[in-house]
Amino acid sequence: MISDKTPTPLGAEEAKLFRDVCQAAGYTSPRLEERFGLLVPPPGDRLPAELSAGLDQNATPFDVLAKAFFLGTAVDAETANALLPTGLIDACRQCGLWIEDGTDYRPTALVVPVGTALLASDLQRIEYQDDERFVPALCDAALHLHAVAIRQRVGKTLDLCSGFALHGVLSCPHSETVVASDLNPRAEAFARFNAALNGFTNLRAVTGKLFDAVKGERFDLILANPPFVISPDAVTTFRFNPIELDGFVRQMLSQAVDHLEEGGILQTICEWVEMEGQDWKDRLRGWLADSGCDVWILPANRQFPASYARNALAQTISDEAELAAEQNKWENYFREQGVEAIQGGFLFIRRRAGENWFDVTQLTKPIRQPIGDAIARGFSDRDLALNDDGDALLASRLAVANGLRQVETSHWKEFRWQRDSIVLHLDDGLPVSIGVDEYVRTLLETFDGSRPVSECLDLFSQNVGLAIETGRKQGTAMVRSLLKNGILVATGR
Ligand SMILES: C[S@@+](CC[C@H](N)C(=O)[O-])C[C@H]1O[C@@H](n2cnc3c(N)ncnc32)[C@H](O)[C@@H]1O
Repeated sequence: MISDKTPTPLGAEEAKLFRDVCQAAGYTSPRLEERFGLLVPPPGDRLPAELSAGLDQNATPFDVLAKAFFLGTAVDAETANALLPTGLIDACRQCGLWIEDGTDYRPTALVVPVGTALLASDLQRIEYQDDERFVPALCDAALHLHAVAIRQRVGKTLDLCSGFALHGVLSCPHSETVVASDLNPRAEAFARFNAALNGFTNLRAVTGKLFDAVKGERFDLILANPPFVISPDAVTTFRFNPIELDGFVRQMLSQAVDHLEEGGILQTICEWVEMEGQDWKDRLRGWLADSGCDVWILPANRQFPASYARNALAQTISDEAELAAEQNKWENYFREQGVEAIQGGFLFIRRRAGENWFDVTQLTKPIRQPIGDAIARGFSDRDLALNDDGDALLASRLAVANGLRQVETSHWKEFRWQRDSIVLHLDDGLPVSIGVDEYVRTLLETFDGSRPVSECLDLFSQNVGLAIETGRKQGTAMVRSLLKNGILVATGR
């Protein structure tokens, strides 16, 4: 059973001590990944023995912190007292992060490092998963949203469906104010604890359904990792979409529009369905038609109902018979609803007066490093590539992105090399791999940032022997696509 209690916020000095001790002990995400092969805490009630093996022998401060606050297991009090400062031991006890249990300290919550922050949440346990009071710890979806989050200086940021307020806390350094809002009152308490733990005073934690607790407020940035798993049971938990199919995400997006400042951006990670006989892009375009927002969708994976159901259910059900029965129920539901596949990825919207654009970028590999700057640039590049009647694009100066890689394959036939393909890869920022032909390669070589696009296109026409008008027309379409994909970048000159 989840306890109703949550840790009480630490004072500024105790919080600093906590952070300093973690830093000195090397209790950081790279070290956790190196030690356990994990960035995300494993479920404590299904903990493989090998994970905690060796932590007790010749224990270090890192071992004690990792055992208690990453694995969520009890630590020997004598060892902890010997290795950690007394001030930290007392602070953990007083705020309720751990309790004395015989000769052990037993954690009541996890405290997980993400980047430069430390985030407390409930213990990670499978048995808690579908309890509506559960405040989950760091998960992969949260890390993915964190990786794409735009980290530019803004006025107001909203962490919507905030849970333990990872996105809110990490937004504090670049936002004047941050609001973290969640349906679950225990999430509000954890958000407050985490703001204090990280030394931030500009985060306000509130409780309410979707935007209910921020009525009338507008934001420059909204980050949301909502409950998006699509299931036959419309239940409210931290992970299941409580409205038919992907209805919750749709509702969130339509309400978000009124909470965005002009130029304000919402970034969400979510799932949506592909209905039989309907292009999923048309369906999502319909959600936001006439919303006054640009829409940028980045699909990352697509699953058929059977594998989707199995993957989602296997996270909590280990009994094969139960799993098979539930999977059957889910598959029947998807069949009855006419669902062909389920897609997952990112959905970004930006409120902007004028003619809005809608664009889709298929992600070709997982995003691990923070690429918020590339996402922000992706919006401005799309304004130029998708919105413009051509004049601004022709007058702009573009250059080939640094680090662009070209992989060319050929085969030997009849006394010479015959080219099979030229593929361009961008590894920094948004990962991109696109096949191009000799024409595009020749076109690219004219972009050194020194001349306007119009001159590059004329040079290209000369180089390949095309009439200037034809070269400009064909070249402009190529430039739009290369700019959208980040292969060409605006130089700002
Ligand atoms: C997938 S968790 C994400 C938590 C956290 N933001 C993260 O990235 O790890 C979804 C959160 O949405 C909250 N939630 C569920 N239904 C909600 C609703 N109708 N309005 C606001 N929050 C809701 C849950 O309590 C849960 O904390």
